[in-house]
Amino acid sequence: MQTAFEVGVFDNGAHRVVLTHDPEAPEVIRLEGIHKTYSMGDVEVHALRGVTLNIKEGEFVAIMGTSGSGKSTTMNIIGCLDSPTRGSYALDGEDVSTLSKDERADIRLRKLGFVFQGFNLLSRTSALENVELPMLYAGIEPAERHRRATEALHAVGLAGREQNHPNQLSGGQQQRVAIARALVNDPKLILADEPTGALDSRTSVEVMDIFQRLNRERGITLVLVTHEPDIAAYADRVVVFRDGRIQKDYRVNAPRDAAEELKNLPAVDEDEE
Ligand SMILES: Nc1ncnc2c1ncn2[C@@H]1O[C@H](COP(=O)(O)OP(=O)(O)O)[C@@H](O)[C@H]1O
Ligand SMILES: [Mg+2]
Repeated sequence: MQTAFEVGVFDNGAHRVVLTHDPEAPEVIRLEGIHKTYSMGDVEVHALRGVTLNIKEGEFVAIMGTSGSGKSTTMNIIGCLDSPTRGSYALDGEDVSTLSKDERADIRLRKLGFVFQGFNLLSRTSALENVELPMLYAGIEPAERHRRATEALHAVGLAGREQNHPNQLSGGQQQRVAIARALVNDPKLILADEPTGALDSRTSVEVMDIFQRLNRERGITLVLVTHEPDIAAYADRVVVFRDGRIQKDYRVNAPRDAAEELKNLPAVDEDEE
């Protein structure tokens, strides 16, 4: 769990507890010397050229870098969707670099939650059923599925929308359904690839508020890809990729606070979006 470790003094002079990750916290992600080469006929594409990255439990990390720098390839490896060509990867202390496809699918179900730019919801299915889906795969009983899906939708502010289909929800609401779906198997780690890429600025702050709360209140480790520096500023650490390598890796001094910002933004009626 994330714990308060420092007391910071902000511009306005107010003392406030700054959340920093526990230096003793266990590593959730340990990538060492990761290479990934794609073969395209005669041509080999070196997507990753030796990536070493450790992320501890409770961290909120933003991954940035120009298009083609290796962000998605890294996320696919971290998310056990693909394996490295060379190098080792331990997820939550378990070596996963040499697992079979089925074993990777099992790890994804038990330990990971995914959020994508395009929401990836089933369109002919209610919000509740979308959120129940990962639990269906995990073999959880219907009554328990229903209970946990309802609770997850409440946690992302969508109580009362359980029966809505995606086309009856705004973009921000659809992304919140996707976050609820990522949450229901109680993941160690949530991976989000450009989660605000399709959202307007206020809705992006709302989504970042949910991510910050999941990180701070539940200690869920978050890794989020974004090309927007404004979005990366909500994380407490930024890792920048360039040409298949890590170019920079730094802590954010005073991360933006989405909950605070929302207080100062005018409210909108979501049904009119
Ligand atoms: N499935 C693939 N087959 C061949 N080349 C790929 C594949 N996926 C990515 N690449 C190449 O690997 C490099 C890194 O891609 P990617 O990780 O998608 O970058 P980013 O997400 O930072 O834009 C790029 O040169 C890209 O063209
Ligand atoms: Mg990408």
